Amino acid sequence: MGLSNFHDIKKDFPIFSRQINGRDLVYLDSAATTQKPIEVIDSITSYYKNCNSNIHRGIYSISIEATELYENARNTIAKFINANSSREIIFTRNATEAINLVANAWVSANLKEGDSIILTEMEHHSNLVPWQIIAKKLKLKLNFIKIQADGGLILDNLDDLFTDNAKFLSLTHVSNVLGTINPIKDIISKAHAHGITTLVDAAQSVPHMSVDVQNIDSDFFVFSGHKMLGPSGIGVLHAKKDILENMEPFLYGGDMISNVSLREAQWNDVPWKFEAGTPNIVGAIGLGKAVDYLDNLGMSNIHKHEQELYSYAIDRFSDLKEFKIFGFENKDSTGGVISFSYSDFHPHDIASILDGESIAVRAGHHCAQPLMEKLGVPATTRASFYVYNDESDIDKLFDGLQKVRSVLT
Ligand SMILES: Cc1ncc(COP(=O)(O)O)c(C=O)c1O
Repeated sequence: MGLSNFHDIKKDFPIFSRQINGRDLVYLDSAATTQKPIEVIDSITSYYKNCNSNIHRGIYSISIEATELYENARNTIAKFINANSSREIIFTRNATEAINLVANAWVSANLKEGDSIILTEMEHHSNLVPWQIIAKKLKLKLNFIKIQADGGLILDNLDDLFTDNAKFLSLTHVSNVLGTINPIKDIISKAHAHGITTLVDAAQSVPHMSVDVQNIDSDFFVFSGHKMLGPSGIGVLHAKKDILENMEPFLYGGDMISNVSLREAQWNDVPWKFEAGTPNIVGAIGLGKAVDYLDNLGMSNIHKHEQELYSYAIDRFSDLKEFKIFGFENKDSTGGVISFSYSDFHPHDIASILDGESIAVRAGHHCAQPLMEKLGVPATTRASFYVYNDESDIDKLFDGLQKVRSVLT
């Protein structure tokens, strides 16, 4: 590809030095989880080798070092998404836990029977099921922004959805199935004009493009470390500080308190009041390193690289007319994701033939069953790209798809 700082990037990722069935691994499932560069892996082993200890409480050197590494990671992440303060960054296990935190701590305290939550038809189950549960518990209504055939949201009737009862909006920044980038800034600004509090599921945007939470102006913003070169088991909730200060904790126990007596407790300051118990210290440190790595490449370069791969792949699909791509007319696609089907053949058969060629793609409903229903299919095959992919991966995918065609027909 045309970007000099992406040359030879696979060398930074140890997994690409292994062979599978005598072939190089072609990894096209980064929307599910990404591979890890050596810097991230080294930061994990270095923590365990050099300063493994619990944080915040130790009055000794290695605990002070571990605390510094953990809190520095918070600063790095705050800067990366342009948060107003690192106090606005809460470490969670993943995007899913961050959404559940908001559902339980904010929505359950602020919405009442008859109020409604607005979602979209393209949400990942993680940004749907927690709202179904809270809606049942509090007798809230769920209303949905619909999608159109090209994979974009239908936004011309927002006033019909943003009624007086609408109190909360939660939507994905980028679809994990179609790659659509939603115009969240506009939608949030309209929602705020109606007094609606907002959450952005940024699990598929933060890894792939530059984001600025102050500019987006969301009240809550969530993402997962493992989808952006970081370790699994670490995620982020960003929220405006005044909201966090007025919000009750979600989990209770050690570290989230300032003072405890036998019958009562006072909470620690933000953000620690939302991080009960020993956190994923090494996960946060690894995520900080992943952010350094991404920053070094430059988020706009990453976005451009993926767009180039996407265009190249779409061109190659013109040789395979029987394959249907979902949502590709949408010009705002991130370029990171292509979902497709081949006649009535099950995506599992397609993925398993590709696996025989050492090509890893996803097949299934991608945790978005309502969207599959809307697209009229039970499942799709999904190829998703990231920083380490290049044209040769796409060429191998298309050789694999020719094989799929010859095996299945
Ligand atoms: C759009 C979107 N939201 C949320 C999630 C959930 O992420 P996690 O499983 O890391 O919590 C995913 C994961 O695929 C996703 O693609």
